[in-house]
Amino acid sequence: MTTNALRQYLEYYRDLGIDSVYRRSAPSEPAPSAAVSIPVVLPDLAPPGDTLPAILSDIGDCKRCRLHEGRKTIVFGSGNERSSLVFVGEGPGADEDEQGLPFVGRAGQLLTQMINNTAAKEGIPIRREDVYICNVVKCRPPENRTPLPDEMEICGEFLFRQLMAIKPKAICALGATAMKALLNTKEGITKSRGRWHKWRGIPVMITYHPSYLLRQYNQQARREAWEDLKTLLHYVYD
Ligand code: URA
Repeated sequence: MTTNALRQYLEYYRDLGIDSVYRRSAPSEPAPSAAVSIPVVLPDLAPPGDTLPAILSDIGDCKRCRLHEGRKTIVFGSGNERSSLVFVGEGPGADEDEQGLPFVGRAGQLLTQMINNTAAKEGIPIRREDVYICNVVKCRPPENRTPLPDEMEICGEFLFRQLMAIKPKAICALGATAMKALLNTKEGITKSRGRWHKWRGIPVMITYHPSYLLRQYNQQARREAWEDLKTLLHYVYD
């Protein structure tokens, strides 16, 4: 197993909350002399040759968590499935639940404007439909509440498979929920935004969620989010 593959496995297990893995010795095998434990038999990170249609089919008519009770539609994701850039939001709102598409309500319109206008201003020939957009949870939480840890964990498996199937050059985490799902951090968004982080080797830019930016008193945050997007788009498309 290559070091890179090993690192990915370990990150995968850390995402699942498992932080110790032990090497199982064959009966005839001498005990490892070094203190390093190397996993030998581990399941695949994702089914080999995983694809977005296969993931959607595995989600099926999902009832794995309580969020299915209030949903109209499962909001899987939309955009260019071969994109170099994936945006990850929190979860569908009322408009998204109605239409089955992510970021189509007010926050979505702002996100679209941000992508289209920043790209145009920076001379980068992309528009919203050229990137891929999805959420941590695929069903609308009641009253648009923040998804609970178990809901994020269950649905996160599908988000991770989506990201691994697309293998973008970079990911943009929109807001604290996406940040937590990807980076397993307790750091606040104000501290983490505007900087590069990594998810299984893929650079992750963290920025504010567009719903937060819609609040009038957040002019400063808006400026910062535009800067974050500029950095991100130049990294991916220059
Ligand atoms: N907010 C999100 O996080 N995702 C959406 O799809 C819409 C609003």
